[in-house]
Amino acid sequence: MRAIKQPRGFSVLLIVALCIPPALAITGLASDILGGTRYFGSNPIKEGEHFLGRWTLRLLVVTLAVTPLRQLTGWNWLAKHRRTIGLFAFGYLTLHWIAYAFLDVQLDWTDLKKDLLKRPYIYLGMTALVLMIPLVVTSTKAMIRRLGRNWARLHRLLYVIAILGVIHYAMAVKKDLTDPLTYALMLSLLFGWRLSRWSRKATTAARTVGSPV
Ligand code: HEM
Repeated sequence: MRAIKQPRGFSVLLIVALCIPPALAITGLASDILGGTRYFGSNPIKEGEHFLGRWTLRLLVVTLAVTPLRQLTGWNWLAKHRRTIGLFAFGYLTLHWIAYAFLDVQLDWTDLKKDLLKRPYIYLGMTALVLMIPLVVTSTKAMIRRLGRNWARLHRLLYVIAILGVIHYAMAVKKDLTDPLTYALMLSLLFGWRLSRWSRKATTAARTVGSPV
């Protein structure tokens, strides 16, 4: 298959697009809190927090979709953007956490402890955040080289992180589960695709080993 080249300007366009949601969240929240506007409605801290949480999940799904999309289309140039999108997902998640810890509970440990008892799904979110740290630390080219095959194994953790994010979302919304279930379906399809590739590879490898020399 002929290699398909990356469209011109794609890298810049991608970075600009990825900067839009956090820029909207930061400017909107600052304007609502300091200037009394209502971009995020009557409860801007909660709404801003939700906005960032939803964008984190979207970006996690997009990160996981890069490899299947590359394999389906042959657009191999997509591979190098997976890291950028994943790092932005971590950035969104950090902002979601900042909105919660600094603006919502305002680093008040008594409030935080009460909140954790009332809303245990926050533990799931925290676990996802902690699990993302080794992925960020090992995202450099030097670490990819150093870890070899273990790098890919470690980065499968992104599926666990996304699943924790979906359960956290479902528990946070409680009633209307349409959105969390849609994300769960997308993750199942992506995971199904991966599993089918792995099993195909394993079958080919077994046939190669079993074939007469
Ligand atoms: C991968 C990790 C995470 C993802 C994907 C995620 C995503 C979300 C989503 C989609 C929502 C619901 C938004 C809505 O109702 O429309 C939410 C709510 C929430 N998240 Fe996260 N989150 C994550 C991690 C965290 C962390 C680390 C914390 C803080 C320690 C956190 C705290 C909260 C809280 C407190 C709410 C509920 C806000 C409220 O209704 O009062 N999340 N999150």
